[in-house]
Amino acid sequence: MRPSSAPGGLRLGVLASGRGSDLQSLIDANVAGKIQSRVVVVGSDVPSAPALERARRHDIPAGAVTPDVNLKGDERRREHDGRVLALLTENRVDAVVLAGYMRLVGPALLAKFPQKVVNIHPALLPAFPGLHGQKQALDWGARVAGCTTHFVDAEVDHGPIILQAALSIDPRDDETALSQKILAVEHQLLPRTVHLLEQGRLRIEGRRVRIDADASWAQKYPVLPGVLYGTGY
Ligand code: GRF
Repeated sequence: MRPSSAPGGLRLGVLASGRGSDLQSLIDANVAGKIQSRVVVVGSDVPSAPALERARRHDIPAGAVTPDVNLKGDERRREHDGRVLALLTENRVDAVVLAGYMRLVGPALLAKFPQKVVNIHPALLPAFPGLHGQKQALDWGARVAGCTTHFVDAEVDHGPIILQAALSIDPRDDETALSQKILAVEHQLLPRTVHLLEQGRLRIEGRRVRIDADASWAQKYPVLPGVLYGTGY
């Protein structure tokens, strides 16, 4: 089904490197009327990323933007960032969601969308940033895991936290089982984050994000058993 284009929402550009289930959660939330914002373009650094196919199935323009292997270091990053930025601006994006995007976004992109670039990470930041947050938590012997949405800055998984939700780690959980449990929560937190963003309810004050919360989604929509939804959800 094609996402609706209700007035008032943001035009979202989603960057994704993989499967795209977090992307799907945004498409579904728009179709269900939970958010007004709609995904208007999907970009990926991985040409074979299923996220691109998923976007096209929903009639959303999608394109691979791969780094130029003939360039090196900073120049390669700048040039790549410029083409990603062009894809977003050509599609008149208002806000950018990193949904399983395995690259840092550069300063030009961040400057173009101030306080409008968000990321989702499968761990309770600042613990376990970077790749395989779920496995890092298991290997560390953590008892609690979860996910975080945050504004993006120049560092990996570092910007001001928007929402978090936590769940208890079952000693029998392996990386796959834990990742699945966390992913189900991600699919709630990410649309809610966009909802707060589109409603202008987020204000960054230093490291903190002040949320001018409305009716909690935990009251409005089904919650998952055993999950602790942090304030703002
Ligand atoms: C999610 O766990 C997200 O938190 C992480 O990468 C994964 C992406 O999953 N950054 P998908 O590709 O959206 O299914």
